Amino acid sequence: MKVSLKTGAPEGVKTALLILPAFQGETPPAIRGYGKPLEAAWKDLDGDFGSTRLLYPQGSPPASRLLLLGAGKAGELDPEKVRRLAGKAYNRASALEAPGFSLAFPLGGHPVEPFEAGAALAEGLLLASYKFDRFRHKDSKEKKAPARAAVFLQGKAGERSRASRGFRLGLAGAEGQNLARELGDLPSNLLTPADFASRARKVARAWGYKCTVLGPREMKRLKMEAFLGVARGSKETPRMVILQTRPSAKEKVCVVGKGLTFDSGGISLKPSRGMDEMRYDMCGAAAVLGLFHALRGGKSLPYDLVGILGLAENMPGGGAQKPGDLVRACDGTTIEVLNTDAEGRLVLADCIAYGKKRFEPRAIVDLATLTGACVVALGHEATGLLSNHEGLAESILSAGEKTGERCWRLPLWKEYKDLVKGAYGDLRNIGADGAGAGTITAAAFLEHFAGETPWAHLDIAGTAWKVRKRDYYKGGAFGVGVRLLLRFLQEGGAPWKKKR
Ligand code: BES
Ligand code: MN
Ligand code: ZN
Repeated sequence: MKVSLKTGAPEGVKTALLILPAFQGETPPAIRGYGKPLEAAWKDLDGDFGSTRLLYPQGSPPASRLLLLGAGKAGELDPEKVRRLAGKAYNRASALEAPGFSLAFPLGGHPVEPFEAGAALAEGLLLASYKFDRFRHKDSKEKKAPARAAVFLQGKAGERSRASRGFRLGLAGAEGQNLARELGDLPSNLLTPADFASRARKVARAWGYKCTVLGPREMKRLKMEAFLGVARGSKETPRMVILQTRPSAKEKVCVVGKGLTFDSGGISLKPSRGMDEMRYDMCGAAAVLGLFHALRGGKSLPYDLVGILGLAENMPGGGAQKPGDLVRACDGTTIEVLNTDAEGRLVLADCIAYGKKRFEPRAIVDLATLTGACVVALGHEATGLLSNHEGLAESILSAGEKTGERCWRLPLWKEYKDLVKGAYGDLRNIGADGAGAGTITAAAFLEHFAGETPWAHLDIAGTAWKVRKRDYYKGGAFGVGVRLLLRFLQEGGAPWKKKR
């Protein structure tokens, strides 16, 4: 769907459907042009959040249909409600099979900043329009989706210009998030590590990023045994993709994504119930690629943003690594593989160690569907955040509040690090028996590879898919992390320059 911003008033605009949100006890200004009967119909509705009335104006009105959309109490509006209202607008237009629609939105009279309102409107519309249905036969009953949405922002010139800046950020973020959703939703036979790498190349070509793809031979030369060990049980060969926004810049920041296109558990095989969901085990890498798509070239960032995707499939084939095996990561750390299902941290170990050594970044942020324990701790409402740097952690937490992608920090005290010390190698890939704290021990393992570099880890096991349904999310991959990181990078300043 093409989403565009319009200036001027929506009243006279010819459209198949004009959607007018309005607050409790207030008449939407645009409805006045449509005469008393419609104004009366609005008064009956009373503006409860999400309530609607569809009206057919008489004569030959510019809009053949009017949809009144209740926005609740003006004083209680927030960005998430704006996102949902925009989602509702799209969903109703789609149900009505309107070829296009117009949405008016007031920028004053409520507590949402124009910038945030603009962003939320664009996000709600585009995210609601995402569908993963290209593998289903088109049947005649299916609704035809609207091709165009025009948004009319109503307010003073200054408010409108702030809102349109927000709108542009919102569009970019939602486009990136929809890309992450699509990659997440693709099953493992249709998105192998090699396929994923091709998709990354395509994004790089579109926006002028440098893109390096390492295959098993290059990875072997770089001594990435921890990563390679995970891929050994699968016929699909692994890839490491490195994207760069500004290769010539001295200053670097790394974003790393776990990209297991399928995680069967390997020899430590998972139970079959729900195993299909392990196609989502690449959502960290999908978020990183979605972020690069959303950055549209990344020239607004003063440093070289380096994206590192760790792509592999974890399978129990004849060549698979076995519990008890010892592997050496590219930085020399030896690891006892006591459970082949704790594979994400093995892949990330080499990605983080490589990123650190090769780029000497100011900061490293990683995203991973890393532990079932994170779902136990936080359910599907929050991403687990663990970090060795206060400023970095705070900045990510605050970006999450703004985008509605809540994060919750867990501790990383040194006592936890003792739980991943090995008996005959430096580290073990699972916490000591009966130690609990599965999300924290996984992070403690990763922290070893980040060392002194400011680093933050986002465990998205509970938030990457199966999250609460809402007007702009109907199921499948959510695309979590794209807008979060976009906000963090564009508005969080450079928290890594602060001490700790
Ligand atoms: N990809 C899984 C984590 C996961 C499980 C994410 C369920 C979302 C839902 C990860 O590779 C894994 O298997 N982790 C193990 C670690 C354990 C063996 C220490 C887990 O969480 O059970
Ligand atoms: Mn696993
Ligand atoms: Zn996994």
